[in-house]
Amino acid sequence: MNRSKVLLDCDPGIDDALAILLACASPEIDLVGVTTVGGNSLVETETRNALAVLALAGRADVPVAQGCARGLIKDLTPATDTHGLGGLGYATLPPPRAEPLAQHAVDFLIEIILAQPGEITLVATGPLTNVALAVRKAPRVVGAVKRCIVMGGAFRHEGNMPPRGEYNVWCDPHAAHIVFHAGLPLTLVPLDVTYRCLFREQHVQRLASRISPHSPLADFPSPLLTFIADATRFYIEYHRAAQNIEGCAINDALTMALVFAPDLVTTQALYVDVELGDGPGHAGTYADFWKLTGKPPNMHVALEVDVERFMHLFVERMAGLAARTMM
Ligand code: BDR
Ligand code: CA
Repeated sequence: MNRSKVLLDCDPGIDDALAILLACASPEIDLVGVTTVGGNSLVETETRNALAVLALAGRADVPVAQGCARGLIKDLTPATDTHGLGGLGYATLPPPRAEPLAQHAVDFLIEIILAQPGEITLVATGPLTNVALAVRKAPRVVGAVKRCIVMGGAFRHEGNMPPRGEYNVWCDPHAAHIVFHAGLPLTLVPLDVTYRCLFREQHVQRLASRISPHSPLADFPSPLLTFIADATRFYIEYHRAAQNIEGCAINDALTMALVFAPDLVTTQALYVDVELGDGPGHAGTYADFWKLTGKPPNMHVALEVDVERFMHLFVERMAGLAARTMM
């Protein structure tokens, strides 16, 4: 099998953690590194989470590099209401044994991408600060990256940050502006599709029965199932309380799935810009759907998603990983 080499830049984060697990669970993916960027939590917390989640998946060998602690211009606004103080909801994981690399994430991204031109798929599921700096520091990255899949933006969706922004873009709109206009082979995965992929209690139950069809889980606990159940319970409570939604949007896991199953979504080539002003449109993403600007498309935007297929795929992949990590 031709495996895709994936570099994940993330801010774990519950759904980022699920994206890491999905990468580890998928034979189509060769996860070559994880970098962290300040977003959902302090970057130090996220780095620890990335290492701990990789260890949970049996992939403590994957290198992790810590990146920027805050946006290019904006200060950090951690999403502790969404992801909990430690970033992983109610889940607790053993302290990781592995250490992060001494190298800064931006330099690590540049080094890995330039060393293997045309081979690395960059998946970004946090604020785009590290990616923007990599592009500015080493513009050759733009031509060397195979594909860049970014979770961010909201178009025909009301957003999840005031007044109608999306968290990753909202945290660092200036970085998003750099990345959107850099000329990268970019696919954007906005809330329009991710908020349709809701992980619910019934998925936890389905996963539990797939992992342990015959014996009560209490007798045979799966650390992976316990992690997913505890992390998503917090995330589900947040979505219910803050947005009146049943289930939690597993934004970043859908983004990771597009590495090997791009046909899960329908995309449109569009010219997209981000609002940098402080007015009511702050950090909003705007697509030129009717080609009024005359500007050529700068990305592919996912606008439809096969929800059932993705949720089935996600549960099955987690069941497979749980079986592997229990052996
Ligand atoms: C994005 O914001 C973060 O809180 C999630 O991890 C996801 O990447 C959704 O807007
Ligand atoms: Ca994220």
